[in-house]
Amino acid sequence: MEHPLKSPARTMFGAGTLEELNREIPPFLHRILLVVGNHVVTGGLLARVREILDGRELVVCHDIQPEPPLPDVQRLIDAGRRNGVHAVVAIGGGSVIDSAKTAAALIPASGGVEDYFNGSTVITAKGLFFAALPTTAGTGAEISPNAVLTDPATQIKKSLRHDTMMADVAIIDPDLLAGCSEAVAVYSGLDAFTQAVESYISLGATEPTRRYALYAARLLYRNLPVFCADRGNAEARSGTAEGSMLGAIAFTASGLGAAHGLGHPIGALLHLPHGLCCAILLPKVLRWNQPVCGELYAELGKSCGVEDFVGAVEELCRKLGVPENFRSYGLNESHDDFILKNCRSGSMKQNPRPMSDDEVVAFLRTVS
Ligand SMILES: [Fe+2]
Repeated sequence: MEHPLKSPARTMFGAGTLEELNREIPPFLHRILLVVGNHVVTGGLLARVREILDGRELVVCHDIQPEPPLPDVQRLIDAGRRNGVHAVVAIGGGSVIDSAKTAAALIPASGGVEDYFNGSTVITAKGLFFAALPTTAGTGAEISPNAVLTDPATQIKKSLRHDTMMADVAIIDPDLLAGCSEAVAVYSGLDAFTQAVESYISLGATEPTRRYALYAARLLYRNLPVFCADRGNAEARSGTAEGSMLGAIAFTASGLGAAHGLGHPIGALLHLPHGLCCAILLPKVLRWNQPVCGELYAELGKSCGVEDFVGAVEELCRKLGVPENFRSYGLNESHDDFILKNCRSGSMKQNPRPMSDDEVVAFLRTVS
């Protein structure tokens, strides 16, 4: 198969699966680099994790910036090498997981993260054992073999990717989502929804990826508004987490589309959350793709229980408070060159209706 489904060696899903963490890490991996989101430290979850991992030696790191900048990742690599850790565990949002994933890959290798980011060195071997536990439902970082990093010197944001970067175990416990803020729930959830929809219509989609993506889109469409309004709702939390997980399995194999292709450079330029960029772009990208996606939209609409799928996506974004364009964030013509130069990623190549440079510029006027 051209785009095989890939996922971590073990993926556990369900409320309370956090309790399995210690059993999932081989006992001889004694010293662990534990990378956590700041809310894991302040919200009391870290204390519970320490109890679960009792008997292991923990090197705890936090303070990872969003869209992880290379120096934050290097700090983790240095801490891991200095302490001779045997494994890496990440508990947090996409940025925490992506930076920890990179550290797990590079701690036993040589050189700094910048060398790999610039392409002057490549990953050639499997890194340390890596466990990922998401506390947001969105990026799919726990499932994917890539890490989205940012070089603060150039503002360039791109993926470091290698099949061996896939987590050894992903533990998706929807209860860990209970502590996320409304803004994080909205942005990460809409990222997950965009991923499911773009995967479904992607040029790289296959029958199996479409099945996962369709079900993911349905779960997210139905559960996201409830989850965003009330993170205490266990059913909506579980549906959102499951949709995010299944969408990630789909897009890791199929690739994405123009909302992601354009969202990355726009987010890096304007310092906006990835999910917000995706959500502003998604309805307009769906309209752009309409001439070639009529049947696929009809299927998505049927699965979500709506007549007009694109209209329903617009309504969903509006309901969740997403602005219609980037005008209030200052996007304008002066940004065109940077976006053009940095949008030609794999995501753009998988968009079902190709966009020439002139068409990208014309498209940008509709969102600026
Ligand atoms: Fe995304």
